[in-house]
Amino acid sequence: MQAKIQQYLLEVASATPSNADEAEFLRLRFLGRKGVLNDLFADFKLAESKDRREIGQLLNELKTSVEAKVLEHSAGKPKVLISAEDTSRPGWSVAPGSHHPVSQVRDELVDIFRRMGFAVAEGPEMEDDWHNFTALNFPPEHPARDMQDTFFLARNPDWALRTHTSNVQVRTMESQKPPIRIIAPGRVFRNEAISSRSHCMFHQIEGLYLDRKVSFADMKQTLLEFAQAFFGEKTAIRLRPSYFPFTEPSAEMDIWWGLETEVDYRMTKGTGWLEILGCGMVDPAVLEACGIDPQEFSGFAFGLGVERIAMQRFAIPDIRALFDNDLRLLRTL
Ligand code: PHE
Repeated sequence: MQAKIQQYLLEVASATPSNADEAEFLRLRFLGRKGVLNDLFADFKLAESKDRREIGQLLNELKTSVEAKVLEHSAGKPKVLISAEDTSRPGWSVAPGSHHPVSQVRDELVDIFRRMGFAVAEGPEMEDDWHNFTALNFPPEHPARDMQDTFFLARNPDWALRTHTSNVQVRTMESQKPPIRIIAPGRVFRNEAISSRSHCMFHQIEGLYLDRKVSFADMKQTLLEFAQAFFGEKTAIRLRPSYFPFTEPSAEMDIWWGLETEVDYRMTKGTGWLEILGCGMVDPAVLEACGIDPQEFSGFAFGLGVERIAMQRFAIPDIRALFDNDLRLLRTL
């Protein structure tokens, strides 16, 4: 029996399995259930007791040499044949994510202004009175400062959640010299009753263009370019006089939407014109507050609400749907 085992030892030592299949074959031949070692162990039990010690050692040697050989030639993966590399197994299902409608619209708007040369700027969502109101020419008694509209911080009422992205205008003018051309997308907060048309949190995109000799006509052309890039080449705009403390003159821009979709009178209140944004020439008082000489520089600013445009684009009648994050709806957009 010893001679037989010696023979097997030689066979194993000279075996050179060249791939995982051959290594597996070697493993089965020696270590499999009906393999050589099992037979030898059966014989071993019948061997005479004086030979047992020697045979036992030889068998162990044979076993470890087979294991070492197999391991070496299957790169440490003895079970490679039934591993994840089995291409017949069904794949993992990976749910592809998608962009929220608000993000889609924001990215598209930002892209349009970027192409026109505007850089993206950011500002804090928690803001002090100066940057959210005072520097923007809000008189001390202005109703927008009222507790009705603003979430003040309970600990320090000089601080609030910003009510608009116009705080970024102020911060940019304080830290940069004109020419300035920025857009500032971000979240804003207002203490309003939540309904199908308004929410206490929404997104705005602020724009600011400041240089020598910037005129109202520059603003109108920029906004027309934007409207046609986003809503289509034939889009018409109109500017209606309006009021903001930080711009003078101020306007609201509508786009011609038409009356075809006006079945429920909701979209344009029967006028055919859809309000898109607020805008105006930066008030000289604001420039002064930010340390910019209004004799030398002038500029325009605008602010638009992202949700309103997303609702229009995706025909979502209720703004709350954009915050519920119900996947059944989001998957359809
Ligand atoms: N900040 C204004 C708002 O929240 C929008 C606006 C921005 C208007 C810039 C004019 C210029 O309604």
